[in-house]
Amino acid sequence: MSAPSSDAIFPVPASWQRRAWFDNAAYRRDYQRSMHDPQRFWAEQAEHLDWFHHPTRIRDVSYGPEDIHIRWFEDGVLNASVNCLDRHLLERARKAAIVWEGDDPAESRTLSYAELHAEVCRLANGLKSLGICKGDRVTVYLPMVPEAAVAMLACARIGAMHSVVFAGFSAESLAGRIRDCDAKLLITADEGMRGGRRFALKANADEALKRCPSVQACVVLRRTGGEVAWLDGRDRWYHELVDHQASNCEPETMNAEDPLFVLYTSGSTGKPKGVLHTTAGYLLAASLTHRYVLDYHDEDVFWCTADIGWVTGHSYIVYGPLANGATTVMFEGVPTWPDASRFWQVIDKHRVSIFYTAPTAIRALIRQGDAPVRATSRKSLRLLGSVGEPINPEAWLWYYNVVGEQRCPIVDTWWQTETGASVIAPLPGAIATKPGSATLPFFGVEPVIVDEDGRVLEGECEGRLCLRDGGPGMLRTLYRDHDRFVQTYFSACPGLYFTGDGARRDKDGYFWITGRVDDVINVSGHRLGTAEVESALVAHPEVAEAAVVGYPHPVKGQGIYAYVTLKANTQPSDELRNALGQWVRKEIGPIAAPDQIQWASSLPKTRSGKIMRRVLRKIAAGDTTDLGDTSTLADATMVESLIDGRRTIA
Ligand code: WTA
Repeated sequence: MSAPSSDAIFPVPASWQRRAWFDNAAYRRDYQRSMHDPQRFWAEQAEHLDWFHHPTRIRDVSYGPEDIHIRWFEDGVLNASVNCLDRHLLERARKAAIVWEGDDPAESRTLSYAELHAEVCRLANGLKSLGICKGDRVTVYLPMVPEAAVAMLACARIGAMHSVVFAGFSAESLAGRIRDCDAKLLITADEGMRGGRRFALKANADEALKRCPSVQACVVLRRTGGEVAWLDGRDRWYHELVDHQASNCEPETMNAEDPLFVLYTSGSTGKPKGVLHTTAGYLLAASLTHRYVLDYHDEDVFWCTADIGWVTGHSYIVYGPLANGATTVMFEGVPTWPDASRFWQVIDKHRVSIFYTAPTAIRALIRQGDAPVRATSRKSLRLLGSVGEPINPEAWLWYYNVVGEQRCPIVDTWWQTETGASVIAPLPGAIATKPGSATLPFFGVEPVIVDEDGRVLEGECEGRLCLRDGGPGMLRTLYRDHDRFVQTYFSACPGLYFTGDGARRDKDGYFWITGRVDDVINVSGHRLGTAEVESALVAHPEVAEAAVVGYPHPVKGQGIYAYVTLKANTQPSDELRNALGQWVRKEIGPIAAPDQIQWASSLPKTRSGKIMRRVLRKIAAGDTTDLGDTSTLADATMVESLIDGRRTIA
């Protein structure tokens, strides 16, 4: 076993060069073609989709500086649900489309392509009976059950846009996301199940809907049978809605650039942004990367452990795999329940061959030792994937050596809600890997690294990661806020899309993502804006001011560190600290609760009143040897007292 070193190179195994879709020469050839003749390259790739009308206008993209627009396959006509369902019915009607593994290991369910098609059509008809039409928004607030995928596809079938909200978000967060897009309908469940415990959904939905006048109906799935309050006239049981519907529903004809969904994600400022994806480009990017990066072949069983509430769940539980006619595993539970072998047991139970998870899960499992892994066979596995945050070389090597027994290549896939699908990632038959590097760009993607002034750097370098082209999967706008779209992504480096991440390029041209350079933190692979957590904290009656930063956390990647200044007559106490934690859970959701709260008599600011986050980040990380230039601080002694205060925190 090699020592943990990020310089190690893992060549492509010979068997993979023969079997995978691309070897190195083919990757290089097609990458060049995708750059030099994008119209022809993408016209060919577009034939992976089923069209009602094939596109003739392939690519019309400008990242500015003047005109900013992204349009792909503009005159094509198709339906995403037809691509994920109907086109497989001839050859794969009885093939498992979704294998659902419940939180309880005794519970599982399989839906064939024929069954999934019928379910989707019934719900689509049900939605129509409630008055939902093409272009309407439907918010989906469901646990990890097959009906979540059914709901997404039913929306796609009738041309409604779905907006899936992670079931761990609070009533407040749900309400904000419903209101932002004026959803007409909410689909939720009585409760969810995770790690042996129930959690409320309908109760949160009731709370949220008090403030959401646009919602005319609430469809409720019975998951646990838990008690729920009921508003006659508004609330409808899912099973009653779909029971008498026909299992056929004529798909809506959609233009390639008609919206498919909106998905809210955190940015460095303000409230979450509604990232908008359209039909054809997104679907093609998700399905191509699922096929080529995750090396999907017909006989594979594919498992992505993400939640449907995040983009990874959208692209690699639902759209990518189903567009490719794959068997996709959907897991309701958590990696450590009933015990730390659960992931590996599920792999054995369903003979999973391709497994895609997040570094935070790997790090949490490393802590449990090798025995829970070794207790299982995992012989069905042939490829491992990683997504969501930088994977540290130690975690990479454990994943490779212990989980994959040095037999399975690892694909570290870098991408974002905004890019829709993987954009920097190895093709496993083509590209030698290095632990901790996402390696090279996918077809059609041109990453560039720029310095702080926006100048493009060449060769070996480190700086901010931008894209000169992100391919067909890129977001088209922020829902109803095109100015913010332009401002957020295209103003930092004119002519380029700015990702918010830092990156290094090594001598082989490989990319190493160094993490966010903006005020977004990545907690266990969940994206959070420090501004959101701060505004939740200052909404508490005892809080005068708050500053939130990320700090290195051994399992979560980054933890949330909050500096809190209390109102004049409030005394700090452990009770108040706990109360603030509870408060943030209620305002945003459990994922946003601070790991550490430090009381601060005041916060370090420049003379112009800007909080010096750079200093706060260093103090939180316990790294105070070089705080950089603090000469612009209005009050320099305060930094000393913050450093003292840091020592009192564990
Ligand atoms: C981070 C998740 C390093 C990055 C798909 C990005 C990664 C943010 C990786 C997007 C990776 C994702 N290596 N960092 N392989 N994958 N990230 O929108 O900071 O939830 O900007 O999309 O996650 O998070 P999002």
